[in-house]
Amino acid sequence: MTSTRDLEGRTALVCGASAGIGRATAAALAARGAVVVGLARRADRLATLVAGIRAAGGDARALEADMDDPEGLAAAVQGLDATVLVHNTGGPPGGRLLDDPPSKLASAFQRHVLSAQVLVQALLPTMTASGYGRIVCVTSTSLREPIPGLGTSNTIRAAMGGWAKTLSGELPPGVTINTVMPGFTDTDRLTSLMEARAAREGTTPDAVRAAFIAQVPEGRLADPEETAGVIAFLCSPEAAYVRGQAIAVDGGRLRST
Ligand SMILES: NC(=O)c1ccc[n+]([C@@H]2O[C@H](COP(=O)([O-])OP(=O)(O)OC[C@H]3O[C@@H](n4cnc5c(N)ncnc54)[C@H](OP(=O)(O)O)[C@@H]3O)[C@@H](O)[C@H]2O)c1
Repeated sequence: MTSTRDLEGRTALVCGASAGIGRATAAALAARGAVVVGLARRADRLATLVAGIRAAGGDARALEADMDDPEGLAAAVQGLDATVLVHNTGGPPGGRLLDDPPSKLASAFQRHVLSAQVLVQALLPTMTASGYGRIVCVTSTSLREPIPGLGTSNTIRAAMGGWAKTLSGELPPGVTINTVMPGFTDTDRLTSLMEARAAREGTTPDAVRAAFIAQVPEGRLADPEETAGVIAFLCSPEAAYVRGQAIAVDGGRLRST
């Protein structure tokens, strides 16, 4: 983890901060000096996150909100002076796209794209006024290469990619947007996907894990802290000229460039 405190004096809203990549990102941004506002539904998990950041000498507070509820989300962030936004939330359940009911796609669109739209519209005036804005959306490598068995997820990641790239052309100078595409990352989300896949295929989660790792040139899963490090860089002043990019943190698994 970097020792640079280049986000001192800035407030960072980190969504999905109670677990996995979001939790690691909250810690990484706090270590860079940001005041972190950690958003999620589970208050107990957020309280643990905030206590951990404060114990490490950082500053954080919890914001309990549900990204499935656009009006509630807008109300929760009203007046927040954040100039860094990490958009991250729970991925849709797995399954073949042909088997997915339209309501599953609609729910995923609401959780991912609508919440991102609500948050950017709420925070943009502060970012514009301060001349500094960093928006990073956590998506998936399936934005670029769809993953079999994750139909709704593949669809919604591509939608997020188009949304972010479009905004990249509309946001003012100084306010950047990028997406980070995690590969197989050792979190609760990956554990539940491995269990579901093992049940579907009549095998064990360990066998699924081994099959996942076999696709990765680095030969292992990512630690969430590794993904968080890339996100934190994109939030930093150093990344001012990185804009409109989708960056994979996948140990080399993607086959396309
Ligand atoms: N792990 C991987 O291998 C991997 C690979 C590719 C892409 N991704 C994607 O990267 C993102 C983060 O993954 P992860 O592995 O860190 O997931 P995770 O461990 O399941 O954590 C998800 C986080 O999102 C929050 N969240 C879920 N639904 C929410 C809602 N409706 N409102 C507010 N917060 C909500 C959860 O908090 P609460 O439950 O407390 O609300 C939790 O903090 C997901 O979109 C995931 O699909 C992950």
